[in-house]
Amino acid sequence: MERLQKVIANAGYCSRRKAEEEIIKGHVMVNGEVVRKMGVLVSPTDEIIVNGTLIKKEEKEYVLLNKPRGVVTTTSDDKNRKTVLDFIDTDKRLYPVGRLDYDTTGALLLTNDGELANLLMHPRNQIDKVYIAKVKGILTGEAIYRLKNGVMIDGKKTAKAKVKLRRVDKKNQTSMVELVIHEGRNHQVKRMFEALGYDVLKLKRERIAFLDVDHLKSGEYRYLNPKEVKKLYYEVLKQD
Ligand code: URA
Repeated sequence: MERLQKVIANAGYCSRRKAEEEIIKGHVMVNGEVVRKMGVLVSPTDEIIVNGTLIKKEEKEYVLLNKPRGVVTTTSDDKNRKTVLDFIDTDKRLYPVGRLDYDTTGALLLTNDGELANLLMHPRNQIDKVYIAKVKGILTGEAIYRLKNGVMIDGKKTAKAKVKLRRVDKKNQTSMVELVIHEGRNHQVKRMFEALGYDVLKLKRERIAFLDVDHLKSGEYRYLNPKEVKKLYYEVLKQD
């Protein structure tokens, strides 16, 4: 049994808040009767009609996109810039799981499965997010130590991270660094490096959990198969 407003929202009809408004206005019928009370529980066999439209459970869809540079990770943009949804041909209301910056490339999941999205985003569930950063300067041993053990951002220390120096270009004075984190604070990777005096020149998310974009060109996407979805659920729930 699930709450009526959640079922309406999950069906892709509207947001949960809008669903609550529709219930209050008396626009929602369950099994032929108007429901105005909040929190009513419904089962999958109940017939739900909102404003004359029969609500059907939306099929879940899971997409892995190789996000290009110069694209916003939102569902719409007031500056009319390209969004990640412009790359995906779907009739479902998909949402990005977390956010990549406008100039960050790489692995981005999109889904209409809010439950999995929330579980994946919660740092408690320890989902690996693997970033490759090209930074200005040669990364010192001290900087690697500090990245591994936590850096202060906005007065709060970042959690432990895995750090590998992949390559150093002495001629151009740049370093390629692999960083594995579980948190998803705003501009986290860039700010971790900036806190240590390094500018990030390029940033790519190489992998989320076991999902990489090695076989996807920039802007390409693919659907996850049921085995992969199951494995993702396993990864987020195994912590409990
Ligand atoms: N950290 C950043 O700084 N930017 C991103 O896009 C993702 C993580």
